[in-house]
Amino acid sequence: MAALTTHQHEDGLAVFLIGARAVKLWRPDAWLPAFTAMGPMIAELSRDPDAGLLHARTTIDADLRGVTVVQYWRSIEDIYRYANADERKHRPAWLAFYRRAHRVPGAVQVWHESYAVPAGHHESLYVDAPRPFGLARATGSVPGSRRGRTAQERLRGPVAPA
Ligand code: HEM
Repeated sequence: MAALTTHQHEDGLAVFLIGARAVKLWRPDAWLPAFTAMGPMIAELSRDPDAGLLHARTTIDADLRGVTVVQYWRSIEDIYRYANADERKHRPAWLAFYRRAHRVPGAVQVWHESYAVPAGHHESLYVDAPRPFGLARATGSVPGSRRGRTAQERLRGPVAPA
């Protein structure tokens, strides 16, 4: 029988999707730095759990022109605090990005989407996951039955012990 697991987290959280896409493929000097800026930021955040990043997963876009990083954060406020902190790697990378964009306009697309998810508005299901994945990797993994049988039940939260 398939093993069903779900994530273990009752509070709110934030999901941040961010990506870079090469537009002018012949100008890697202009787009590569936007790609390589991400690794040091994830490393910086991983060294400091209090900053609020719970887990990040990097994927390659299907057309092979870009990467997308799925980030799970403790809160949306933690994301904004990190993005605007002078002592972190993000602000200098942001400024360097605009300097390059001025030099070679339109060579690289960067994008992000932020989702502030209140408690009681997140649900997950992992079937036969050999290791915790996604939100369950970020917050902890429990048997799926702990949050209910259907997606709607799991959205509402843990099942009270019998
Ligand atoms: C952990 C990784 C990252 C996080 C959490 C993050 C988050 C954010 C957030 C929240 C903002 C909006 C700030 C505000 O308006 O208050 C922002 C802006 C920006 N980010 Fe990032 N970012 C990340 C990585 C990167 C990388 C790798 C680049 C590429 C160089 C980048 C380039 C930019 C730029 C250019 C802006 C300014 C957009 C504007 O002019 O408003 N970011 N980022």
